[in-house]
Amino acid sequence: MEERIISSGAGEQDLSFEQSLRPQTLRQYIGQDKVKANLAVFIEAAKLRRESLDHVLLYGPPGLGKTTLAAIIANEMGVNLRTTSGPAIERPGDVAAILTALEPGDVLFIDEIHRLPRTIEEVLYPAMEDFCLDIVIGKGPSARSVRLDLPPFTLVGATTRAGSLSAPLRDRFGVLSRLEYYNESQLTDIVVRTAELLETEIDWLAAQELARRSRGTPRIANRLLKRVRDFAQVRGNGAVEETIAREALELMQVDRLGLDHIDHKLLKGIIEKYRGGPVGIETISATIGEESQTIEDVYEPYLLQIGFLQRTPRGRMVTEAVYRHFEMEVPER
Ligand code: ADE
Repeated sequence: MEERIISSGAGEQDLSFEQSLRPQTLRQYIGQDKVKANLAVFIEAAKLRRESLDHVLLYGPPGLGKTTLAAIIANEMGVNLRTTSGPAIERPGDVAAILTALEPGDVLFIDEIHRLPRTIEEVLYPAMEDFCLDIVIGKGPSARSVRLDLPPFTLVGATTRAGSLSAPLRDRFGVLSRLEYYNESQLTDIVVRTAELLETEIDWLAAQELARRSRGTPRIANRLLKRVRDFAQVRGNGAVEETIAREALELMQVDRLGLDHIDHKLLKGIIEKYRGGPVGIETISATIGEESQTIEDVYEPYLLQIGFLQRTPRGRMVTEAVYRHFEMEVPER
């Protein structure tokens, strides 16, 4: 995947610093009001009954705060958070080791849960339903199955594609919450909050400009803030003002709507090579050199949301709004 300044993939660097910027409680968490209101009730009820919280599935585009919410759930429940991901668990033994090490009530967060191998899903079914593990000991005719009790725990799964989860796994979650793109005012609040934590002075107008160009995504907003803050420090007096924010965003090739060179390549590719579409996702993938799965999970959802792309049975099409955005003549169709 090509490097992208506004990529919403979690970077490997300075994770602990990243974490210190994240909200720790539902009250600090901005946006996703419905999800928050529901979780607040379920958490309080579970605490009143002194039970573990029911399993939670969080789904939606990358960068909207699924991992943050998992950490908040653990924090609000007053339990440990254990984190892993679908691709990291390869064998049933891996998941058994994680599950048997949990303490009562703990939150186990599995990111990209749609990428769990089928064999692992099957270990999870009895674990989620009855808090037990069925382990096969030995091989051949002498093999036998033993049942291991687990402490009650809460599985929080996160996925960008709820549709890719097998039905039996999806059915075992008691709470299913879909995260939505954030609006400009919520993102402005998030930028201002993060700037405060970074001890960076920021104009309201500059925060708004960053919010407008963050594709509805807090992770992108915070990343852009950090880069713009670098510009402000080197080119200005350290304070993030509107003009310096604008200049920095232009230099980083993030356009008025927050679209970057990969979005441009995708949209212009469809216009220039396929007369605006319809064109199949695999063809787009080959044309621009990005994996089709990445296009579907990362780039496309926002373009669909703002009405720049349409999915039709014959493939993707750009809309008239794209031509206007690029100041190109709208073709007759
Ligand atoms: N930082 C990133 N996402 C956030 C959110 N939803 N609320 C507050 N701060 C954030």
